[in-house]
Amino acid sequence: MNSPPVIAIDGPTASGKGTVASLVAEKLGFHYLDSGALYRLVALGSQKASIDPTNGAELGLLAQKLVISFKNGQILLNSEDVTEVIRTESIGLCASAIAVHPEVRQALVGVQHGFRKAPGLVADGRDMASVIFPDATLKVFLTATADARAERRYKQLIAKGISAKLEDLLRDLQERDARDSSRGAAPLLVADGAKVLETSDLSIDQAVKTVLDWYQAKTA
Ligand code: CDP
Repeated sequence: MNSPPVIAIDGPTASGKGTVASLVAEKLGFHYLDSGALYRLVALGSQKASIDPTNGAELGLLAQKLVISFKNGQILLNSEDVTEVIRTESIGLCASAIAVHPEVRQALVGVQHGFRKAPGLVADGRDMASVIFPDATLKVFLTATADARAERRYKQLIAKGISAKLEDLLRDLQERDARDSSRGAAPLLVADGAKVLETSDLSIDQAVKTVLDWYQAKTA
């Protein structure tokens, strides 16, 4: 039996991949996997359990034990609604720190594969095309300049009523880019066969349309 098709969308922080990926999924009636949320959940769990972010073995065990569920736009960790809590910049930085450990990444592989259901899946993250779904029908690397991404993140936070400083966001984002790209396990990279989509000067609608056009061309 053929596996349901996957569109893998990878890219650096604040590149807009979450927004684009969820809209593409909606248009196609596909399932959606926000893999970054899984690393954010492990980060939150590790803080609650006071686990040292450098302790890969213990973090891996924690990741295996966490009870994670995505329900009607809500994200639950051990049945607690943590949808908003995991979105802070500090959890993002902690997620990037714990995501370097192969034990953590390995613990999350099965959960991610579980999202691949008919009629198809749009998955966003850092290693969707390279490691988790190497047989994806379409692989997209979505990116934008660091300045454009910092500005987007700034607007997002302000719109949510969270105060933020542009220069702090730019610094955090560059720190996260450097760590995500240089780690040994599943680094952020343009996977073989991936198409690069530079979105600094594109609207969300234009980016979504480009991905849909590419997917149509692949499946025509
Ligand atoms: O929203 P943003 O792009 O800032 O972050 P995210 O996608 O929620 O991911 C948070 C962190 O998890 C990233 O900085 C990565 O270090 C890590 N991550 C990963 O290692 N692999 C993935 N497939 C997704 C996220």
